[in-house]
Amino acid sequence: MANDTRELNRRQDHLTGRSDIWLFGYGSLIHKVDFPYLESREASIKGWARRFWQASHDHRGTPESPGRVLTLVEAPGETCVGVAYRVTPDVFGHLDHREKNGYLRLTIDMTFVRPPHQNLHANGLIYIAGPDNAAWLGPASDAEIAAQIARSRGPSGRNIDYVLKLDDALQAMGAEDLHVAAIAKHLRPSTSTQSSAKGRQP
Ligand code: BEZ
Repeated sequence: MANDTRELNRRQDHLTGRSDIWLFGYGSLIHKVDFPYLESREASIKGWARRFWQASHDHRGTPESPGRVLTLVEAPGETCVGVAYRVTPDVFGHLDHREKNGYLRLTIDMTFVRPPHQNLHANGLIYIAGPDNAAWLGPASDAEIAAQIARSRGPSGRNIDYVLKLDDALQAMGAEDLHVAAIAKHLRPSTSTQSSAKGRQP
């Protein structure tokens, strides 16, 4: 698959005749909401897990020094909690451009998490970059992933900020993600050194 997925996404027939549609966000769509929406709700999807397995050449890295950003991988039995936005179809021009580096729009069943909509389902869209896209990096150890993130920055800022903002947002929702938290732990400045140094002061 080519890197630029805009044309593939534009050709999909997801939006014809619709006045609105739910979009499930699991990564930057949670903390970088630069698009209008009609309403938002916490939601979950089944059978997918977050992984920093996708290269970013255009946002959190450069072609010479790509960063690592999230995609979803199939994970039977797992649940991924995120934020669903009800949006109008015109929003996808902007989002297809923003997420053009390998992400395809797919349809997905989501379940709302909180009352008064708790356990209600909706069918909507999600952006996923699969293993057949040119920016796919695939698995690496947590330490290797964190090291690549620590040295990367791009037009949208530092790759480390992408990870820490998402980890903070997920924790605030009470939806900590073990993979995101493990990478964030490698990247957060340790406070234990500072406090033990403080403890030694007279
Ligand atoms: C998301 O937050 O849903 C998202 C993550 C990566 C690319 C596109 C969307």
